[in-house]
Amino acid sequence: MAGRLITLEGIDGAGKSSHLDFIAERIETRGIEVVSTREPGGTAFGERIRTIVLNEKMHGDTETLLMFASRTEQLAEVIMPALARGAWVLCDRFTDSTFAYQCGGRGLSESRIATMEEWVHGNLQPDLTLLFDAPLEVARERLNVAKTSPDKFEREQSDFFSRVRAAYLQRAAQFPHRIKVINSARGLVDIRTCLASLIDSL
Ligand code: TYD
Repeated sequence: MAGRLITLEGIDGAGKSSHLDFIAERIETRGIEVVSTREPGGTAFGERIRTIVLNEKMHGDTETLLMFASRTEQLAEVIMPALARGAWVLCDRFTDSTFAYQCGGRGLSESRIATMEEWVHGNLQPDLTLLFDAPLEVARERLNVAKTSPDKFEREQSDFFSRVRAAYLQRAAQFPHRIKVINSARGLVDIRTCLASLIDSL
């Protein structure tokens, strides 16, 4: 497989999405095709799942299964074909989100999520995961400024986000070669310098 899969992760308000265009342009200047997408979503069917899962109350298992259902479509329709033709895929959230939110945040079993991960993309892991990390208060403040109508996750209390953040950092410690922690409480110039060097090293 000639392409690369780069995923962006972080708690709500950590600022990951605002860097997506910068990263895409940095790769495109090397003459490489970039496919930008997001999860849940990224396909017509996945976007319908997104609307449901971000807005409706449901059992934690249902939420997890829907995240993986959306991911399965996305892999089949978008990610695998793009990687096969040599494109680089930038995915705003991927399975680390499920470990952080459904396992860390909601307390679901880690081994069940690992089983689904193996089922859905056992032969594929991101080449690079950029974990945007900021203290809870910074992320909450950004969210309050940016969002007029918060979704189901964004309405969670700070102890939920503190568990999600801890789960992310634990995964970064577990997979240090793949997951790079970006301190996103810093200024834009510093963050972009750091992103550029990580992207250029791929
Ligand atoms: P997000 O990516 O933050 O989009 P936006 O910035 O437009 O609000 O929203 C997606 C939400 O879905 C986010 O709160 C995290 C949650 N999520 C999970 O809980 N598990 C998952 O596996 C994924 C992919 C997302």
